[in-house]
Amino acid sequence: MNDYDDYVKHSRKITDVKMSMSVLSWDQETKMPKNGSKFRAQQLSTLAEISHELSTNKKYGDLLNILNSNENLTNDQKRNVYLSLKAFNKAAKYNSEFIIEESKLISNAFQKWRLAKDNNNFSIFEDSLKKLVDLRIKECEILGYDEHPYDALLNQYEPGLTTAQVENIFSDVKEFLVPFINKISKSNKIDDSFFYKKYSHDKQWDFGIELLKKMEYDFNSGRQDLSAHPFSTHFSPDDTRVTTRIDEDNLSEMIWSCIHEGGHALYEQGVLPENYGLPLGETISLGIHESQSRLWENNVGRSIEYWNCNYDSLKSIFPNQLSDVSVNDFYKAANSVKPSLIRTNADELTYHLHVLIRFEIEKELIEGKISVKDLPSIWNHKYKEYLNITVPSDSLGVLQDIHWSHGSFGYFPTYTIGSFYAAQFFNQAKVENPNLLNNIKDGNNKNLLKWLREKIHENGKRYDAHVLCEQVTGEKLDFRFFRQYVIEKYSNLYSI
Ligand code: CO
Repeated sequence: MNDYDDYVKHSRKITDVKMSMSVLSWDQETKMPKNGSKFRAQQLSTLAEISHELSTNKKYGDLLNILNSNENLTNDQKRNVYLSLKAFNKAAKYNSEFIIEESKLISNAFQKWRLAKDNNNFSIFEDSLKKLVDLRIKECEILGYDEHPYDALLNQYEPGLTTAQVENIFSDVKEFLVPFINKISKSNKIDDSFFYKKYSHDKQWDFGIELLKKMEYDFNSGRQDLSAHPFSTHFSPDDTRVTTRIDEDNLSEMIWSCIHEGGHALYEQGVLPENYGLPLGETISLGIHESQSRLWENNVGRSIEYWNCNYDSLKSIFPNQLSDVSVNDFYKAANSVKPSLIRTNADELTYHLHVLIRFEIEKELIEGKISVKDLPSIWNHKYKEYLNITVPSDSLGVLQDIHWSHGSFGYFPTYTIGSFYAAQFFNQAKVENPNLLNNIKDGNNKNLLKWLREKIHENGKRYDAHVLCEQVTGEKLDFRFFRQYVIEKYSNLYSI
């Protein structure tokens, strides 16, 4: 065996361990009995240790360094080695002290966060959160950065993205979206009350499965289960799973979270199996991942064409609940814009103001400009400023998201970046497939999926996100595609 084959074998071994962890985590969220949690935590931590050992193994590092200067490799091989070496060097920056401290702080913070949220009392979480923020500040120095310490955190989720770029994007968001949403708030209200009638659990489930099948999600390489919070996970391109949550008093939640997770899963099903265990067999970044879920959820799944195709079927399942709701009423309700307290329930416009608030807070925390104890009042102030709503309690305010309790800082901006990539990709898909909207109307999503597969999915990590964007659309990520999409859709919907 030559060096490259040795590398492939070792890299696949690391992936095998990580994917096994994913299987256990999936089980934990979907099927595991309550009493399984103690030993499950131990099993996961053992596998994490094995994965860390394999990833930081000295011989593996030496091999990567040798291969990195091997000129005889193909471009794809070079790319795999380059990215694996980068990951190796990054893992080597952490000593075991840091890893142990991090895992202890996170498990403590998570418990405290849950307690604080249940008791509507931020102070229960305050001390743990402060320790986590201090740890991340330390981590920025460990990882290093060019301009801003927060860059180091962003890079964990979106390689190459800088704080300055995110600030630029959000200044466009503020300039356009804040007054636009304001105009909408003053215009006629859309009636979406029918979403909150009674919709049976089983019938909702069946309809969700139907939507996934129509998206070309492959049930021979995946499955859907129930979980407290919808998510998608993958163990290989041939086994990529989704979960959903069903609320009998809210039809919209199931529909769009199903399409959203389906979009994530289609991306994972689309990477090439022959690249399993190598960077070229992995998706690029959270932002690009989110672009795939948002493209299906919003650009496709909230379009009139999509509902022209799917509404009859939905109405035949729920004839009483939807008896006086036309397809146009349904489309309007699916796109109703209303400033609200909870990010995960937000519409596709106000959503970005929720993210903006979290970004501003995280950045100033890392800069040391604000302190954790002041977060509730800072949070409430910003919700008043950007969304014009009063936050009634910390549970519905600063404590609503799980992310900080997991120590995830730098994650939120990828949600917004993802939506903007989605708008830009979808625009390009329409340019290259003039019949695309008619296809969607006919229930034929094959052309769109084929385009996404060829342009994005099959590449794995062959290109960095910004390079991929330029290759696919001819230019860098640009907010104007999202702005254009919003103006076209919502000016009509709200007659503004
Ligand atoms: Co998502």
